[in-house]
Amino acid sequence: MNLYKYVSNAINEKLGTKVNLEVPRNREFGDFSTNAAMVMAKSAGKNPRELAGEILPKLAELDFVADATIAGPGFINIKLRDDFIWNAATQPQIPKSDAPMTIDLDYGAYNVAKNLHIGHLRTSIVGDTFNRIAKLLGHKTYSWNHIGDWGKPMALIIAWIERLHPELPYFSDNFDPNTPVDFEIDPTELNTYYPAASAFAKENADFQSHAQEIKARFQDGHMGYFALYEKFLKISLEMMNETVKRLNILPFDYDLGERNAAKYLPAVEKILRSQNLITESDGAQVIVVKRDDDNKPMPPYMWTDSRGADTYDSTDLAAVYCRKNVDNPDKIIYFTDLRQGLHFEQLFRAADMSGIFKYENFEHIGYGTINGRDGKPFKTRDGNAAGLDDIIDAVNDAVNQRVIESGKNLDSDTINAIALAAVKFNDLLHDVRSDYIFDPSAVTSFEGRTGPYILYTAVRLNSVLKRAGDVPNASRIPLSTDERNLLIGVLDFERIVHSAFENRATDLIANYAYDLCQLTNTFYHNCPILRDDVPSDIRAGRLHIAKIARDTLAQTIDLMGLKIPSEM
Ligand code: ARG
Repeated sequence: MNLYKYVSNAINEKLGTKVNLEVPRNREFGDFSTNAAMVMAKSAGKNPRELAGEILPKLAELDFVADATIAGPGFINIKLRDDFIWNAATQPQIPKSDAPMTIDLDYGAYNVAKNLHIGHLRTSIVGDTFNRIAKLLGHKTYSWNHIGDWGKPMALIIAWIERLHPELPYFSDNFDPNTPVDFEIDPTELNTYYPAASAFAKENADFQSHAQEIKARFQDGHMGYFALYEKFLKISLEMMNETVKRLNILPFDYDLGERNAAKYLPAVEKILRSQNLITESDGAQVIVVKRDDDNKPMPPYMWTDSRGADTYDSTDLAAVYCRKNVDNPDKIIYFTDLRQGLHFEQLFRAADMSGIFKYENFEHIGYGTINGRDGKPFKTRDGNAAGLDDIIDAVNDAVNQRVIESGKNLDSDTINAIALAAVKFNDLLHDVRSDYIFDPSAVTSFEGRTGPYILYTAVRLNSVLKRAGDVPNASRIPLSTDERNLLIGVLDFERIVHSAFENRATDLIANYAYDLCQLTNTFYHNCPILRDDVPSDIRAGRLHIAKIARDTLAQTIDLMGLKIPSEM
């Protein structure tokens, strides 16, 4: 049950007006509080405390109210009945949206033959958790891994391989695709080609212009280039799959990116031309997306570059057209670095102007930067820009270190699960849009707002429940403070899931997990369960509470894509 909504609706109905209901930090005086009397006093021309006194008896009539009291200048505190809490908490928590939508989610979006950078961590983790939240609420989602597999990097890699192996037949204009070629790319070397080629191109104008030529011919269907491309594409896709597994994110519904989108370019171009939306600018074909009321620079959207080649812009618009035709979504949401904000603003305008997809049904969730302790983008120990694997490796080392120090003996699967939880939880904990500081040692602490703490709490609950064996239904009334606080915490799950979805705020889930763990550990500490001196009815009730807490915590952990180890 969505406890907050239930209580709030019932109070609104009783008082005949919409009141503001809050969950106070300090639960001592009430489970909920409202400033309704203070708000209503103005129009009623009454003193707020006096009005509150008139409201109390009405609230007392509600079936879930144990006690309602006045505090301060006219706040009303409401305490819930224990039996009401018990009955609500023993029902399954199933948040469901009243208005299910079809949503295309664009995240991950890895690049062929390029190491994943640190930003790919955030798009993957936040996008995946958002996807899980939406699914839980009953929305139909399609996740698109919009792979960078069509642009200039492809050409640079082809040009680089040509430099290394000029004797290969791929570079000839009349390459026959049936020719058997005895050439294999070394997967460990592949991701070094692009950085090498791009550095070389900066120094060497001929190479640069050759690569540009390759790009145009490759996109025009040059057989040899294409055959070579398919070779490294295959290796790259396998590496991406490994990443998806390593991050424990859901498999993408579509691993289709720029190249797939390029198929739709002619259809989109037809639409654009029929509305005269394509104009020429400095030899390039562009769509002017600027509006009169713009107060910031709004450059034109690039349809083709000056060599007539497809662009990141054009394939992104074509991808929208494709998705509209394939999934017909109500919304398309992109998760990328904040710095792509302008690109998406242009894309949304271009799509809207051409009638392909409405501006208001797009969203761009731009995330901030992951910084090191010095406040600058996180670097590896040798001072290079860190990749996604560097982050996970650093955290794995930190977990290993802690485990050795604590004298525990944990297998490598457990260590990996803890390290992954440390990385993902820390990422989810922060407001997506803000930068955060990444400190491998802090995120692996077993205490505080960390992934290991969350897992540790779940492992603890699992172990109590395992030792207890079967947990039959029991009832436990009256509830002690720690018991009721934990159950009310459980009953906040649905509100949080709805709110995380509506506000596109995955951090609410991580913070909720932490709050639930705090409540759990306080309960665990103050309410012995399996100790010999605990009477059997109390034990049965507490076990039931532990089970309810575990189920909700496990569901929350699942939304974050973390795995609970069997021991810690
Ligand atoms: N591949 C791009 C990158 O790594 C992100 C693509 C995001 N999605 C999109 N439809 N443009 O930065």
